[in-house]
Amino acid sequence: MKRFLSGIQPSGLPHLGNWFGAVQMHLERAKQGNAYFFIADYHALTTLQDPEKLREYVREIAVTYLAAGLGETEAVFWRQSDVPEVTEIAWLLSTVTGMGLLERGHSYKDKTAKGIAASAGLLYYPVLMASDILAYDADVVPVGKDQVQHIEMTQDMAGYWNSTYGQTFRRPEWELSKTPKVSGLDGQKMSKSYGNALWIFEEGKALKKAIGRIATDSRPPDEPKDPKGLLLFEWLELLLPADELADLARRLQTGGANAPGYGELKARLVLAIETHFADARRRRQELLTHPEHIEAALARGAVAARAVAREVRDRALRACGLR
Ligand code: AMP
Ligand code: TRP
Repeated sequence: MKRFLSGIQPSGLPHLGNWFGAVQMHLERAKQGNAYFFIADYHALTTLQDPEKLREYVREIAVTYLAAGLGETEAVFWRQSDVPEVTEIAWLLSTVTGMGLLERGHSYKDKTAKGIAASAGLLYYPVLMASDILAYDADVVPVGKDQVQHIEMTQDMAGYWNSTYGQTFRRPEWELSKTPKVSGLDGQKMSKSYGNALWIFEEGKALKKAIGRIATDSRPPDEPKDPKGLLLFEWLELLLPADELADLARRLQTGGANAPGYGELKARLVLAIETHFADARRRRQELLTHPEHIEAALARGAVAARAVAREVRDRALRACGLR
């Protein structure tokens, strides 16, 4: 069975887009076996230089995956920085990687254009990412469009190394995540950096307030509407059972006294979120009262991940003459 690997950057609190776009898909894949997931904390340092926040985001991502049920699967789940061999392999890879390849990086260009400091680490980011993938002999890496170039660079780096020193690294393939794009509170793609994201575990007043911010128009409730164009309906589609959705859609299309107004849809959405995440929320609370369980899960993952990375590292050291 092909080995599946993905990394998640702890650059903010995990939001609904991450949940429906990544966590759920990862969980499904984890149930099939041979799946590797890690929290890319070394990478996060290129954009986040606040130790307290970094600790919080790493913890929240770990808790999110564990609360979703990853701990009950065979998946290996760890924190990138617990396996320092990846930085070692990254160094080896950098010695066969042209500066030109890194300078052509879209992500590097986008981030520096947005004003993020052009550190050597930011330029080197794809080398560390290549190492993340090659260190675990991964076959398939699911990514969003923005990450495809990073996987192509990984293929290039594996190729340069293998043609210099002989077959050492397995060439990975990328797979476009099939998950639909989850819109943010303003209708644009939900993203940590757009200020339109809803944290997965938001609840109570804060949740109501956030849902209240979802953009709507000024059409009266009884005017017939196409549910397809409604941001609120799009969100409800992620959460409600099919029969209730069909009923809502019909009432929206028909209009009249029986049609739901935006206020009703918002109230339904708040309730749907509360219900959908009730279980995961309870597990999150349990984990937070026993942070040692979070650490223990990550430590277990690190042992398993490290065993693989060491073997690959040794293979690379032998190939290039350092052993
Ligand atoms: P990011 O938070 O952008 O680093 O993304 C982490 C993961 O969540 C990636 O697999 C993304 O494809 C996924 N993701 C992020 N935002 C969304 C969104 N708005 N809709 C669907 N998936 C998303
Ligand atoms: N760069 C990825 C992102 O921003 C995170 C990441 C780091 C990653 N290392 C990885 C993803 C290895 C897949 C494989 O989303």
